[in-house]
Amino acid sequence: MVERDAAIGVIGGSGFYSWLAEEAAFDDVVEHRVQTPFGDPSAVLTEATLDGRRIVFLPRHGARHEYLPHTVPYRANLWALRSVGVRRILSASAVGGLQPDNGPGTVIIPDQLVDRTGGRAQTFFDRLPTGHSHGPIHVSLADPYCPALRAAMTRSDAVDGGTLVVIDGPRFSTRAESRWYAAQGWSVINMTGHPEAALARELQICYANACLVTDLDAGVSEGDGVTAAEVFAEFSRNLPTFAGLLLDAIRTIDVSADCSCAAADHDVDAVLAEIS
Ligand code: ADE
Repeated sequence: MVERDAAIGVIGGSGFYSWLAEEAAFDDVVEHRVQTPFGDPSAVLTEATLDGRRIVFLPRHGARHEYLPHTVPYRANLWALRSVGVRRILSASAVGGLQPDNGPGTVIIPDQLVDRTGGRAQTFFDRLPTGHSHGPIHVSLADPYCPALRAAMTRSDAVDGGTLVVIDGPRFSTRAESRWYAAQGWSVINMTGHPEAALARELQICYANACLVTDLDAGVSEGDGVTAAEVFAEFSRNLPTFAGLLLDAIRTIDVSADCSCAAADHDVDAVLAEIS
């Protein structure tokens, strides 16, 4: 169950907070330097209020984009956000389109996830001590995203649903890999969408991901393949619209509503106390 009036976390790219702050009047801005049993998060957490809602922003790749997708401290990030009262997370990501209809500038709110990463720590529970007071913990990730948060981000100009496939990176896909992903019917691809959703679920945090398409992936486009410059340029070009979508969602979420999307058998506070 989501606690009443808990904070909304926003995980985005480096510089995303400044964009949001340019578009909206944030009040009561404070910074939190948080340490976790899983190390330091990517950056200082910035807390602010927007129209009376408490939000906490974290740049996934660090303040100066110092973390590549496979080195992002995902567990520390999720732990840090929960430790300052975050119980809902809106995640903003750049993605490649895997279907010709999902061209650059399209916003997709996926409802499914495929993990093609390898070796990323995707659980907090390998830290549970021997003889801990709970049975084995296996959360369900059948539906990885919170329906209420998805609905809040699905404006009329966004695509409602689709599958995000997550690769390790930092390289982009070969054409054969990309064609194979597309042939599965998957919609978009990126390098950071996993394990955020899985870790949020373990912490019983509602989580949804807004995906901005920055390129058509190598298997879909006839060109030379994706470049990082293309991704960054297209992301910047669409930032005002994308930031607007996030801000609208923050204003729309019913922060006093209960949500059971991340409900699980374990008592999360008791389990986390054992890990801390
Ligand atoms: N992020 C943005 N575009 C991408 C692509 N084509 N592949 C993987 N990650 C991406």
